[in-house]
Amino acid sequence: MRTILITGATGFLGSALVASLLAEGHRVKTLSRNDPAGARVRAAAGEAARGFGLILNDRHWELLSTVEVDFRDLRSTLHPRILEDVTHVWNSAAEMSYSLKKILPAMEQNVMASSTLYALTARHARRCQRFYHVSTAYTAGFDVEEVHEALHFTPRLINAYQLSKWAAETNLFQHHQEMKLPLTLFRPSAVIGHQATGWSTGVSFGLFCLAEGILHGKRRNAGQIHLDLKEDARLNLVCIDTVVRRARELLRAEAHRQPVEIFHCVGDESLRVAEALEPAGSLLGLRVVFGPPQLEVDAEIHRIIKKNKPFADSTWHFRTDRLKQVLGDAYVPQSMNREIIRRSMMHFLAHRLQELAQEPGMATALAMP
Ligand SMILES: NC(=O)c1ccc[n+]([C@@H]2O[C@H](COP(=O)([O-])OP(=O)(O)OC[C@H]3O[C@@H](n4cnc5c(N)ncnc54)[C@H](OP(=O)(O)O)[C@@H]3O)[C@@H](O)[C@H]2O)c1
Repeated sequence: MRTILITGATGFLGSALVASLLAEGHRVKTLSRNDPAGARVRAAAGEAARGFGLILNDRHWELLSTVEVDFRDLRSTLHPRILEDVTHVWNSAAEMSYSLKKILPAMEQNVMASSTLYALTARHARRCQRFYHVSTAYTAGFDVEEVHEALHFTPRLINAYQLSKWAAETNLFQHHQEMKLPLTLFRPSAVIGHQATGWSTGVSFGLFCLAEGILHGKRRNAGQIHLDLKEDARLNLVCIDTVVRRARELLRAEAHRQPVEIFHCVGDESLRVAEALEPAGSLLGLRVVFGPPQLEVDAEIHRIIKKNKPFADSTWHFRTDRLKQVLGDAYVPQSMNREIIRRSMMHFLAHRLQELAQEPGMATALAMP
C-alpha cells in the first residue's frame, strides 16, 4: 500500500489530490502549518471531495494523517519517524504572491523548504520511490515560443513567484545529483475549475485574477468595462481534475521512468483571451471590451489584472512528449472549450459573490443577472 506525503493540502491542488487519493484507497499524510489538529486540511479535502463529486466515508478518512510543521524549520519540526513509511511525496505548498516585496518568503518556502523536504526525505524515507515537486510551466519565462520539458537556464522572469519556482527547480535538480532520490518536476499551466462541476477554491490566481478584475466592474455598477489585454492571445488552461488525474497516472506508471523527469501538465491553446473571459462578463451582465482603460473603473480594473497581463498577452506552446511517453495509452489530451470555462467561471464568481455579499451594502448590488 502506498503512503503519499502531501504538502499544500489546505490549498487548491493539494486538497484535490488528497481527496482523490483517499478515494482511491491510498494512505495520505499531510504536512501543514498553523493546523494543530489537521482541521484545515480535513475541511479543505472535504470541500475538494464535494467539488469532485467524490463520497468519502469513515474508512477513507481513517487513511488520512495530518502533521503540523513549521516549514521554515522542517529539520526541527518534521520528525524522521513521520517519513519512515512514506513511499511518495507530492510537494505542492508554495508562496503564491507575485510581489517582489515577497521575494524572501517566496524563496524561503518555494526554494529552501522544498529543498529541505527533499533532503529529509532522501535521508529518512527509506521506502520513498520518488519526490514529485509541483512547479509551474511558466518557469520558462517570456519570449519562448516552444517550451521543452527540460530545465531552463537563463529564462526572463518577472515576479517573485516565477523566480522562486524556477530557483526551486534548479536547486532540487542539484540536490538530486547528490542524494539520488528520483525527482519529478511537474509543471501545470494555469489551473481552472473541475471540468464537470466547475469547482475551485475561489482564490483569484491565474485566469481567476482576470475574472476578479471583471467582478470589480460589477461591484462598481459598470455596464461596460475596458480590459487592456490582447484579445487574440491564446491561453493555456488546464482543469484541476486533469491535473489530479495526471498525478495519479504518474503514481501508477512504471515504464520509461527516469531518475529526473520534467513534465508539463497542460491543456491546449484553442481558446482566445476574449473567449475565455466572455463568460465572466455575460454571467455578471457586463459588456467586456478590449482596449486601454477609458474610465476610472477601467483604471481600477487594470490595477487588479496588471500582474497577469504579461502572461495573458503571451502565447506559449508547451511540449508534452515526455509525459506522453511515460503515460502511454493513459495520456488523454485535455482540450478546452467555452462550456468548461463557463462552468469554471460560474463557480468562481458564485463563490466570490457569496464572500462579497458579507460586505455591508453589497448583497443586492452583486446578484448575478
Ligand atoms: N493554481 C494554479 O493555477 C497553478 C498553476 C501552476 C502551478 N501551480 C502550483 O501548484 C501548487 C499549489 O497551488 P494552489 O493553486 O493549490 O495554491 P493555493 O490554493 O494558494 O495553496 C497554496 C498552498 O501552499 C501553502 N503555503 C502557501 N504559502 C506558504 C508558506 N509560506 N509556507 C507554507 N505553506 C505555504 C498554503 O498553506 P496555507 O493554507 O497555510 O496558507 C496552501 O496549502 C503550487 O506549487 C503552485 O506553484 C498552481
